[in-house]
Amino acid sequence: MSRVWEFNYWAKELCIYWHLSMANPVAYGRIPYKGVVILDNFTFQSPTKIIFGKDTEHQVGNEVRAHGSKVLLHYGGGSIKKTGLYDRVVQSLRGAGVKFIELAGVQPNPRLSLVHEGIELCRKENVDLILAVGGGSTIDSAKAIALGVPYDGNVWDFFEGKADADKALPVGVVLTLPAAGSEASDSCVITNEEGWLKRGYGNQLNRPVFAIMNPELTYTLPPYQTACGAADIMAHIMERYFTNTRDVDFTDLLSEATLKTIIKHVPIVLEDPENYESRAQIMWAGTIAHNDLLSTGRVGDWASHQIEHELSGIYDVAHGAGLAVVFPAWMKYVYHHDIPRFTQFAVRVWNVEQDFFNPGKTALDGILHLESFFRSIGLPVRLDELGVPSDRLEEMANKTKTGNDGKVGNFVKLTHADVLKILELAK
Ligand code: NZQ
Ligand code: ZN
Repeated sequence: MSRVWEFNYWAKELCIYWHLSMANPVAYGRIPYKGVVILDNFTFQSPTKIIFGKDTEHQVGNEVRAHGSKVLLHYGGGSIKKTGLYDRVVQSLRGAGVKFIELAGVQPNPRLSLVHEGIELCRKENVDLILAVGGGSTIDSAKAIALGVPYDGNVWDFFEGKADADKALPVGVVLTLPAAGSEASDSCVITNEEGWLKRGYGNQLNRPVFAIMNPELTYTLPPYQTACGAADIMAHIMERYFTNTRDVDFTDLLSEATLKTIIKHVPIVLEDPENYESRAQIMWAGTIAHNDLLSTGRVGDWASHQIEHELSGIYDVAHGAGLAVVFPAWMKYVYHHDIPRFTQFAVRVWNVEQDFFNPGKTALDGILHLESFFRSIGLPVRLDELGVPSDRLEEMANKTKTGNDGKVGNFVKLTHADVLKILELAK
């Protein structure tokens, strides 16, 4: 980095900070740990049976058989046919005497219309289990179908908060893309084409009954999808890491180790896509990042996810790429809320040398390291690099889902005006 460039960069950062701190004294005031809890009571339930390693997809028939005799085989745009995985899954199902019907065509940012189609099909065919073979979009589409089959109303009710599910069909998974963590998570994210609203729904029923995870299945991922997956995995960890809960050393350290695993192994697989060891590290880290182990006893933030969902909902960009743009902008906006936590992130995760007399600089350095890492693995870090124009930022800010208090996030409670400023920082 040239000195002139570096000077300009820091001058710009300082201007942004000055401007925002004047406009947002609440977000930028160093808010004391008021109303903060120490390690919360928690219930941790992660019932998904994980079957991990080479050739494990051959076990899918027997796993399905334990839950019924007829299955909906659900998948995306055809990558599983190109790689030969489809044939191996079908052979295993047949070998176990499982009958199946198929529904293909899940698109990234899975659509509600296909979910409705799946619900009708499963009811007509009396299906016992939905088998998702693919990435997060296929798994989420399967989860939504599973919720909708036994429900009399419109499955979208769950995503709008109008109803809560009390039963669902079981979902099984053969994972081909480490990213969303949906293979063991309690959440499901669907896009309603009417209004292009992307909404998540959390319920313990959403956790798959099994997930088959063979790292070799990820060798065929295009580099951009590998990188998007890395950003999503890191975002799931960081959403939990930036918390107001105190005394969370154990989960802080677990989170830092999980982040460092991704930082170490993603560049290796981008160079060497068939490196089993690194693919395996990434795949397992991706599940741990989002099965809620890392949020035990602490309150996560999730503002960056809520903001990003409007990006991928409206512009149909990859979720991980949207996060690579939004997360650093969110960090730059809120880091003064808790400089020690951001300093810890910089020093422990990015090996930034601590500036004892200027901890704010150390904190900001950590954020810049994250941004450089995203760039180094081929991700966009600004809206224009993502191909998103800046003319609908206000609409995105207004659409961003809030909590019951009308605010977005927990670490710093953001108003729509704050969200708009974060999106402007991402330009
Ligand atoms: O459709 P196919 O042909 O399978 O191709 C997919 C798709 O084009 C391709 N792909 C997957 N595995 C592959 C492969 N190509 C070659 N080789 C392989 N092994 O990758 C493309 C992207 O797939 P997708 O499933 O959309 O990606 P991802 O796993 O990142 O899932 C993204 C979705 O998950 C949601 C996101 O919002 C987004 O809709 N999320 C779900 C969460 C959850 N349920 O817990 C949490 C996350 O925060 C996230 O919001
Ligand atoms: Zn995510």
